[in-house]
Amino acid sequence: MPKTTKRHIAVTGGAGFIGSNLLLHLVPNHPDSLYVNIDCLTYAGNLANLQAIENADNYVFEKIDICDYNALKECFDHHGIDSVIHLAAESHVDRSITGPAEFVASNINGTFNLLELARVAHEQSREFRFHQVSTDEVFGSLGATGYFTEESRYRPNSPYSASKAAADHLVRAYHKTYGLDTVTTNCSNNYGPYQFPEKLLPLMIRNATTGKQLPVYGDGRQVRDWLYVEDHCEALELVFYEGETGETYNIGGHNEIENIELVRMLCRTLDDLLGGGPRENLIEFVKDRPGHDRRYAIDPGYIKKKLGWVPRYTFEQGLRLTIQWYLDHEEWLEGCLSGEYRRYYEMNYGKR
Ligand code: NAD
Ligand code: DAU
Repeated sequence: MPKTTKRHIAVTGGAGFIGSNLLLHLVPNHPDSLYVNIDCLTYAGNLANLQAIENADNYVFEKIDICDYNALKECFDHHGIDSVIHLAAESHVDRSITGPAEFVASNINGTFNLLELARVAHEQSREFRFHQVSTDEVFGSLGATGYFTEESRYRPNSPYSASKAAADHLVRAYHKTYGLDTVTTNCSNNYGPYQFPEKLLPLMIRNATTGKQLPVYGDGRQVRDWLYVEDHCEALELVFYEGETGETYNIGGHNEIENIELVRMLCRTLDDLLGGGPRENLIEFVKDRPGHDRRYAIDPGYIKKKLGWVPRYTFEQGLRLTIQWYLDHEEWLEGCLSGEYRRYYEMNYGKR
């Protein structure tokens, strides 16, 4: 990416799980960059996550749906946006099975709108970098061995992964056809603070601490490759500021684990920390997710070789930190479930 002293970066989806962690990391670390958080605050967006930076000089929030081209254009013009880190998306696979329409709208059409704005800037010879934040799920399912690399074929199996794959292809096409400066990252399963409690880890933590059943899909032998969200954020920072144009980078920490084993580890850790249990008795095998991918595993060799990225947290460290965070933030968790977190926007931004 060409070096300019001050960048004006639109971070879409900045109120979500990864977006919040990313902004909390970037805003204090890059006082020379302006970060414009563009988020329409779906159920997954929570501005209370960003309290620590909401008054920073280099941070602004804009409540905009990326499906609204005109609103995006006005915002880009107003803030002189010269780059996008694109995270906004419908992100939950189960929801994409019961209601795929929003996934097509936000993940495909929303990405298209952002790319069109980037193309206009590029064609006016303005510098513009577009970072597409994507997932390993675009590669489909692995057998018992092997890894996803940057050369793996796209074989998405859920409406969610198909919509992300379509968006990745558009990004690729805008680089090849128009010469837009793009980078794409495909990351494995993230875990850590601020994850909406529909996802496996926060859901299981909440259920296990409140004596509810722990619903494990199918036989629980599906494998996911877990990465602590802070490690993902550091990789995103590196790729955005230093990645080579047109490149894609796979991000993962070599932490493959079967779902059932992860849930058991979680139960044992909670028994350790809180006493009582054994919480493993709460595990219940339930009907499998349709089209459930069996195994994901990332080969992160390329990003390590090219940009020197390696994760800093072991799985044991990250899991302990995560569990402790949810135990210390029971109010945050309960607010998500009751819908109380929505009041934060009204209270702090409602009158603007
Ligand atoms: P999330 O669901 O927690 O957050 C998504 C955010 O996007 C929310 O704040 C939501 O309000 C916003 N959003 C959704 N639709 C929007 C729209 N039309 N306009 C404006 N804002 C909108 O998701 P997450 O887990 O933080 O994931 C962020 C990105 O990273 C997604 O693109 C996802 O595909 C990708 N990703 C996630 C993981 C993971 O494990 N969570 C792994 C790899 C890649
Ligand atoms: O791999 C990256 C992807 O990871 C991201 O692109 C997605 O946005 C993110 O949601 C995540 O997708 P998964 O489907 O892997 O995450 P989820 O937390 O929904 O499920 C993790 C695994 O646990 C999966 O194999 C399904 C299983 N599961 C999930 C839930 C919610 C259960 O067994 N029981 C559950 O209740």
